[in-house]
Amino acid sequence: MSISEDFSLLFNYSPDLVSAAPGRVNLIGEHVDYNQGLVLPFAIDSVTNCALRLRDDAKILISSKQLNSGIYETKSSDIVPKTGPDWTRYILGVLWSLGIDRGVEILVDSEVPQGAGLSSSAALECSVAFALNEALQLGLSRIDLVRLTQRAENDFVGVPCGIMDQTISLLGEAGHAILLDCRDLSPQLIPVNFEDNGLRLLIIDTQAHHALVDGGYAERRAQCESVSGIFSLDSLRDLSRERLAAKGSELDSKLYSRALHVVTEIERVKSAVSSLQSKDFVGFGELLNDSHKSLRDDYEVSCPELDCAVKISQESGALGARMVGGGFGGSAIALVKDGDMGLIASLVERGFAKACFKSPRFFDAVPSDGARLIDRRN
Ligand code: GLA
Repeated sequence: MSISEDFSLLFNYSPDLVSAAPGRVNLIGEHVDYNQGLVLPFAIDSVTNCALRLRDDAKILISSKQLNSGIYETKSSDIVPKTGPDWTRYILGVLWSLGIDRGVEILVDSEVPQGAGLSSSAALECSVAFALNEALQLGLSRIDLVRLTQRAENDFVGVPCGIMDQTISLLGEAGHAILLDCRDLSPQLIPVNFEDNGLRLLIIDTQAHHALVDGGYAERRAQCESVSGIFSLDSLRDLSRERLAAKGSELDSKLYSRALHVVTEIERVKSAVSSLQSKDFVGFGELLNDSHKSLRDDYEVSCPELDCAVKISQESGALGARMVGGGFGGSAIALVKDGDMGLIASLVERGFAKACFKSPRFFDAVPSDGARLIDRRN
């Protein structure tokens, strides 16, 4: 059944419109967005749909196709940060940050796997924000929506995420990654054409738990802020490798390693863009491998399942592999030759079984469009 049909069954009326917003993978530039660094994500073809109808009263009715939790009901005037059942907060947060003061009915349906490090939260927030902007003709730009959805997640849900996920979910373009400067949000489209070069980007969802609310993410962020404070900088974006090395012995060793990851990862993003532009996929793959090593050893946000997926991919012919997203679980990506995809997937599956990990899932990452309108009732 389509989301519109489900909506009509649930709320007795057809939706005014249906929007879609995608999840993402990040090619490289991990844990640097909140350090005002450079990132290189693309939108994937898995989306969250949001069907929405405006009401004449102040009632807010929300439901999700994934959770058989019925309809959650509240009033626009009762929406307060960090309240409401967990799954509703991403939606209520968007209503709150957009200042919606009237009633709406919302049904969401997500094909972006949750907790897989593919930004299901941003896809949900952006689909709702996009739908509200269209239905109420708020006239907000995509960049406005980026900032408002990030605010919803930071201040309403309480997750101190950076700005990468919402940006790519709203600005993504098919066939391209975006080189995003997280300092001024200036985006540069970078063509990504693995398939034409006999390559594929395999997503390996380790099915290991991943929740940014767990504290490791916030701790890393705070550590980065401590180091920029020590150097009297606005952010680690302004720290050079030389300056960090010169003060290395005075810094706490953990803080030094965290900063080393950020500084080197920003350098790797720049090199990765050059490699992609010159079709040096071997060089690009090596940068993915270096990024994983840095995230595992210096930033310490990997986990045994991610390390296993990356190692088996690297040993089985992948040009490069690394964890993506916040870490502590979630997904890895592997750049593989077209014909090797099945073999590498089955070797990773076997390795996971041997290590008694949950069975992994595999997806083909295809650079896709960002948030869009799917349907509108006239
Ligand atoms: C999560 C956050 C992003 C970013 C990544 C790590 O996905 O939501 O803002 O910090 O982790 O690169």
